[in-house]
Amino acid sequence: MTTERLITEDEDLSSKAAELRGLIEYHNHRYYALDDPEISDAEYDKLFRQLVELENEHPELITVDSPTQRVGFAPIEKFVPFQHEAPLLSLENAMNLEEAIDFDRRVRKLLATNEEIDYVAELKMDGLAVELVYENGVLTGAGTRGDGYTGEDVSTNVRTIRSAPWRLVSPSNESPVPAKLGVRGEVFMDNSDFEKLNEERSVRGEAPFANPRNAAAGSLRQLDPAVTASRPLRVFFYGVGALPAEVEFATHYDILERLKGWGLPVNPELRVCHGIGAAVSYFEELVEKREYLPYEIDGVVIKVNDLSAQSLLGEKSRSPRWAIALKFSPHQVQTHVREIRVNVGRTGIVTPVAILNPVLVGGVTVKRATLHNIDEITRKDIRVGDAVLVHRAGDVIPEVAEVITSRRTGEEKVFSMPTECPDCGAIVVRLPDEAFHRCINRNCPAQIKGSIVHFASRDAMDINGLGDKIVSRFIDEKIIRTVSDLYSLHLEDLEHLAGFGQKSAQNLLKSIEDSKHVSLSRFLYGLGISHVGTFVADLLANFGSLERVRSAGMEELQQTRGIGEKVASAIATYFSNPENSRLVDELLELGVAIENQQPVRVVQAGYWAGKTVVFTGGLSSMSRQEAGRQISAKGARITESVSKKTDVVVAGADAGSKLDKARKLGVKVMTEDEFIGAVTSD
Ligand code: IVH
Repeated sequence: MTTERLITEDEDLSSKAAELRGLIEYHNHRYYALDDPEISDAEYDKLFRQLVELENEHPELITVDSPTQRVGFAPIEKFVPFQHEAPLLSLENAMNLEEAIDFDRRVRKLLATNEEIDYVAELKMDGLAVELVYENGVLTGAGTRGDGYTGEDVSTNVRTIRSAPWRLVSPSNESPVPAKLGVRGEVFMDNSDFEKLNEERSVRGEAPFANPRNAAAGSLRQLDPAVTASRPLRVFFYGVGALPAEVEFATHYDILERLKGWGLPVNPELRVCHGIGAAVSYFEELVEKREYLPYEIDGVVIKVNDLSAQSLLGEKSRSPRWAIALKFSPHQVQTHVREIRVNVGRTGIVTPVAILNPVLVGGVTVKRATLHNIDEITRKDIRVGDAVLVHRAGDVIPEVAEVITSRRTGEEKVFSMPTECPDCGAIVVRLPDEAFHRCINRNCPAQIKGSIVHFASRDAMDINGLGDKIVSRFIDEKIIRTVSDLYSLHLEDLEHLAGFGQKSAQNLLKSIEDSKHVSLSRFLYGLGISHVGTFVADLLANFGSLERVRSAGMEELQQTRGIGEKVASAIATYFSNPENSRLVDELLELGVAIENQQPVRVVQAGYWAGKTVVFTGGLSSMSRQEAGRQISAKGARITESVSKKTDVVVAGADAGSKLDKARKLGVKVMTEDEFIGAVTSD
């Protein structure tokens, strides 16, 4: 009797666990694959908790494929390679509408048709690419993109992602799950999850992720799957690897529908477009809609829908000819200018800064944006109280792109530059040939603070732990007055500072001590001489010693390639000022030991000036127009065809006859990486 009762109870528990597992998988599918949840998050969590509790009490009930096991994998020591059966290609970019139209023209030419092409327009998710392999419907492996052929095996980590099913479903006999299926998609993180994760990290004193993409990539590439499991990652699938032989697909859209049917989440935000015009309209709709999406996207991917047309078009070495990524221009988000303040920098330049209602731009909260100078404010007509669009220039520095004048109420206030420095009260002037206003007081505390922060910065003396806030306190509390005071600091000077522990004081003193051994170029850069950035500092290091730089006159300086009259004059003026000379001597007396050095960078001043350049093949990091614009600004002439007069041919992916001709004529050929190197170092 007793035994019978127990068996029944066990069976009950085991079927209860199975029922819970089934329910959880079902609701996962509704939520992630169908985007159509039937129950609330709280109800889902309740089911999950019930299963966890049941399995905790009766560990014998745990099955390997229980949804609770998504978190239970052991850490690994290193990632092993993951071979993609078919290469995981990348996409060519179109940076503007004309380039999208060019793409359509190429497609129609290659397909020899004047008819409109059917495209599928999808969102370009801003995460990282993965391939998942299913064998007989069971998830057996997953890898990152890597170089397209070999990635890293992230199978265990991918298993922790709830929207990645462990097992595919066969909805009908017509679409049975193939024996082997490789599916491609993008792992990403929702903006709200990203913000929450960063808040938690800041509470724990960990550095925040710069954007949701980095957070997703950093979370997937964890050696400990428990860490990945704790991160709210998601995945959307957008294609297959090798087409499975047993399934017939006519179109790309068919593939996506079938993936959904098998339980794989496909982004519902997609459209079949008849002709490039319709695809472009979809893109334009997305420019608006993008701001309301819960995740980051960086463009729209336009793919030829018909699979036989796709195979006729084929692939180039790195990207298919049947698809293009039409990229958004920098993310623009609407907000309000609360106030305009000014900031005094180390050279005395007074920069206006807009204080904004905080907004999320490209996954990062933006609260302020530089307005550069008064001319810029006047040109854009930015007033206090204006509704504005902000973006992150080069995806980093927040900037006000434009004012939404239609939103003006009449209450907005025109801004004018202060006539007195907000930090020291000295007069603020604008010199006739300058765009900037300057505080004329060389002893202005804001300037002193700025120059010390610059001196300590990474490319200069590299004093770890001596940032903005600490320097401000040191100056305000009169612990130091100049950079040379740093080298006579003692533990006693710092110990009494509230909130500055002994450990941080010791660490800081050690960093200061370590900074005494410095290269000539870093030292020169750290002095903050006007017009002397890292590049000019490297050129000056060619003089061999500090003494030679100090004693060089205008003429000698100007003979250096890359140093013009203005720069030479700034350097000579700096060293002829007795106050500066005294500072340099003091630093040397206090033990700063400058290593005389050979140039650290190849001198390429004016490399592009007067050069005739031809581009051939596709560039992956920027459009040809952008590349051309950058070197034209440095004096290069861009031409179409290669001849003996051509100085450089920049060969991107799939460069053709122009590259052959360049080789034949012995013209210098640069790869994309070499080109970028030559642009950034010039
Ligand atoms: S298709 C053969 N579709 O964009 C074409 N890619 O350089 C392969 N991406 O990191 C890509 N959303 O992971 C495609 N809807 C989408 C996409 C997409 C994001 C990513 C892809 C890769 C990059 C392409």
